[in-house]
Amino acid sequence: MERRALRLAQLFLFVLWANSLITIGLAGAQQQIICNESFMLQNLPVCGKSFEEMMHKVDSTKWCNLTEFILYYNNFILCTEHKVSTAKCFWPNPLAEGFITGIHRQFFTNCTSDKVHWEDPPDKILVSLIFIPILLTVAMVGLVVWCSKRSDILV
Ligand SMILES: *[C@@H]1O[C@H](CO)[C@@H](O)[C@H](O)[C@H]1NC(C)=O
Ligand SMILES: *[C@@H]1O[C@H](CO)[C@@H](O)[C@H](O)[C@H]1NC(C)=O
Ligand SMILES: *[C@@H]1O[C@H](CO)[C@@H](O)[C@H](O)[C@H]1NC(C)=O
Repeated sequence: MERRALRLAQLFLFVLWANSLITIGLAGAQQQIICNESFMLQNLPVCGKSFEEMMHKVDSTKWCNLTEFILYYNNFILCTEHKVSTAKCFWPNPLAEGFITGIHRQFFTNCTSDKVHWEDPPDKILVSLIFIPILLTVAMVGLVVWCSKRSDILV
């Protein structure tokens, strides 16, 4: 069960890594993208706050049950991706990861890995809930970067 979650996480990281390479390649090919870290750090708490609001609607005894909050978590991750790309930063990056880790600490410190029920939703659901939106976002971000590079809109 945990191995499945691990494999999924590996796949997920691979996609992110591949995307970073593509984006870096695009950036290197033309103008350099300047990541505004202060802008990013200013905006990330918006995602944290809405995730917090959603989590407070979930009974705190169920905070270790992924099925209960996977949609909110997915939205949270998509939100951080959006904020990071708005600041023209790469996602993931250490600062954004630090922020996400802080949110994890806030909600999931008391969850041991055997208490986190990763296996509750079948893989197919997990994949469509997490993986497909992220793939789409990755594709969109790549496309946006590519288009803006082509028309030299980026300053
Ligand atoms: C970065 O963001 C900050 C605050 O959001 C803004 O004041 C600053 O002008 C931005 N810097 C650049 C280089 O765009
Ligand atoms: C987790 O939540 C789902 C949906 O509410 C529920 O069906 C499942 O039994 C829960 N699992 C555990 C171990 O509490
Ligand atoms: C974790 O457990 C401690 C001690 O029981 C409790 O004070 C704290 O609020 C819990 N944190 C979370 C995020 O559930």
